[in-house]
Amino acid sequence: MQKMPCLALATLVALPWAMAVQASDLHIKIIASTCLNCHGPGGHSLGAVPSLAGQDREHLRTAMLEQKSGARETTVMRKYMNGYKDEEIAQLAEYFSKLK
Ligand code: HEC
Repeated sequence: MQKMPCLALATLVALPWAMAVQASDLHIKIIASTCLNCHGPGGHSLGAVPSLAGQDREHLRTAMLEQKSGARETTVMRKYMNGYKDEEIAQLAEYFSKLK
């Protein structure tokens, strides 16, 4: 009987945490899906736009932050990156670097 309240408490603490992790994964996946129109299916470009899949995480993150700040010349990317927080950019870099 002693263990029950602890278990209930652990569940109460862990559940919102697990849901938050899932929600943020989904949030990044949804954003990432909007990139594929230009960057190709699964992040593999079919044309002149660079591929994102499997690129170095730091390269992707730096490129996007520089596009956002204007330090890097862009045609379209600045407009996109302006819409995202630095934290989301870091998560997008992580996401695309892990794609095969
Ligand atoms: C409308 C087309 C379009 C969309 C949508 C788009 N991109 Fe791009 N992306 C480009 C183009 C074109 C370039 C080359 C730089 C430029 O001209 O802006 C580029 C360059 C990049 C680069 C630099 C790659 C390198 O190796 O130099 C990264 C990183 C990147 N995009 C990430 C993203 C992410 C992440 C998204 C989704 C949030 C996204 N892009 C959405 C067209 C697009």
